[in-house]
Amino acid sequence: MNIFKDYYNNEVKLSFADQPFSKTPKHVWVICKFKDNWLLTKHKDRGFEFPGGKVEKGETAKQAAIREVMEETGGKVKEIAYIGQYFVAGKGGNIIKNVYFATVSDLTQQHTYFETDGPLLLDSIPNDVKHNDLYSFIMKDGVLPQCMGYIEKNADKF
Ligand code: GTP
Repeated sequence: MNIFKDYYNNEVKLSFADQPFSKTPKHVWVICKFKDNWLLTKHKDRGFEFPGGKVEKGETAKQAAIREVMEETGGKVKEIAYIGQYFVAGKGGNIIKNVYFATVSDLTQQHTYFETDGPLLLDSIPNDVKHNDLYSFIMKDGVLPQCMGYIEKNADKF
């Protein structure tokens, strides 16, 4: 279990075990690759981030992850794997989020990207994300580097 503070000084607990905080999490976040690039979305308020959002009624978390990637980037998920789960003790309540790693096979232009301005392809995630105003707060705590490290270490599994 990894415990650290987020951008807003809320406590975050991150685990790579099988859904330790909830088997029915309400939020998902998807670290996406398209060909050799990372696939992010440009959130209108928060800035650049990997796609994600809330699980809707009647959906599994994995189904929500696949839907959110399409809605926010136009990316068709080819493969998706659960990586871990994190718990944020937020000021307005706790949130539990599943993290997935997905590979996208096609990027298609959408009529709407919902609350985002659509896809952003990057050949690498810059080192200064934490201090870069273009990036969302959800990219600015320990979740991103730890999950990227996990993906790199387990590359043979994905
Ligand atoms: P609505 O409920 O649709 O209005 O959206 P919201 O952004 O207010 O609610 P959400 O449940 O998505 O998030 C509530 C709070 O939880 C945010 O303001 C953050 O403080 C925190 N939060 C949500 N997602 C994350 C995340 O990925 N990382 C961290 N560290 N905090 C998060």
